[in-house]
Amino acid sequence: MAAAAAVSSVDESVKALGDSFDGIPVIDVGAWLKKDGAEVDAETIATECAKAAASLRKYGCVFARDPAFDSKDNDRFLDTLEKYFETPEDARMKDTHPELSYQVGATPAFTELPRNHCDRMKAYKDTDKPLSECPPEKDCKWRFFWRIGERPAETKFGELNAAPVVPEGIPEWTDVMNTWGGKLLGCVTCVAQMAARGFGLEDDAFSSRMDMGPHLLAPTATDLKRFGKEGTVCAGYHRDLNFLTIHGKSRFPGLYVWTREGKKLAVRVPEGCLLVQAGIQAEYITAGHVMAGYHEVVVTPQTLEAVERATAAGRSIWRISSTLFSHMASDGMLEPIGKFASEEAAKDYPPSWWGTRSRPSSRQSTSRATQRRPPPRRERSSHAHPGS
Ligand SMILES: [Fe+2]
Repeated sequence: MAAAAAVSSVDESVKALGDSFDGIPVIDVGAWLKKDGAEVDAETIATECAKAAASLRKYGCVFARDPAFDSKDNDRFLDTLEKYFETPEDARMKDTHPELSYQVGATPAFTELPRNHCDRMKAYKDTDKPLSECPPEKDCKWRFFWRIGERPAETKFGELNAAPVVPEGIPEWTDVMNTWGGKLLGCVTCVAQMAARGFGLEDDAFSSRMDMGPHLLAPTATDLKRFGKEGTVCAGYHRDLNFLTIHGKSRFPGLYVWTREGKKLAVRVPEGCLLVQAGIQAEYITAGHVMAGYHEVVVTPQTLEAVERATAAGRSIWRISSTLFSHMASDGMLEPIGKFASEEAAKDYPPSWWGTRSRPSSRQSTSRATQRRPPPRRERSSHAHPGS
């Protein structure tokens, strides 16, 4: 398929999305998994893949329905994280490693600091403005980092060789984290393949570059007992540094995303679906055809309704996000690929290694990767951590 024609066909799909969808579409990962059998026709596959690509382009995100996903897995994960965050703060502080820049284990509240996007925020019309402060303030959410997937035996950008942190008193921790993280990684890999086909690239154009990437299961946790006032910002306006971020449904709504045109949307993840959002690596590899999606998490009236229901049922009111950051492999060259590669694209997205030894920390407002080369000209901003 000729490059220009392929891009144009995606733009046609985007146009169709605007006409036929009342919001972010759902793609059927199950159809993709059956693509080589007789059960699903080629047209269905082509439609789902076009939707994946078009939605990432238009909304910076897409919902994925995956037959491998069982809401019981998400529940088990959320239950385990709630149990952990209900333990005394002093106990959790033992799981933090500031000396390792919080690359493993827990990160306390008021550590992660979103980058400054004030110019962009001020340019939005009032109804699209984020609630985040200018200049940004440190987030009131906690986080936990857990590596998922294999790592290369040899790499120029090895992660810190620190043992994973397993909290005391939760014997199921390792199994829960690996099971949920593995399923999220499996789903986001399928979405990457579907989007690649939708963009007219080889199916593995993205997923082969994700192989052995420094993927991280990175749930966030906000104590709504302390920070449950309407309008409180749990995660300040930002976008993710990685390739694609995937989340299960949170028990407490409050996530907002911005489309590439700057329209603010409240995210309501359909039951049984996962949310996949584009990060800066996705923007880079597509030369801006997909833009990294800006987002924030705030306490809304709907959050408070969920808090009321949870309180009445005697459940935890820690807001947990079941988040996985998928990454391109650190040793690969990050640059626009296939039809997205051009002389013009190379000016804004010059080839660079995205490998990074250091991971998230508010103290590292720039990662080693961003120190190594400037961010894309149009994209000076990013988050102090790899994702939401
Ligand atoms: Fe994020």
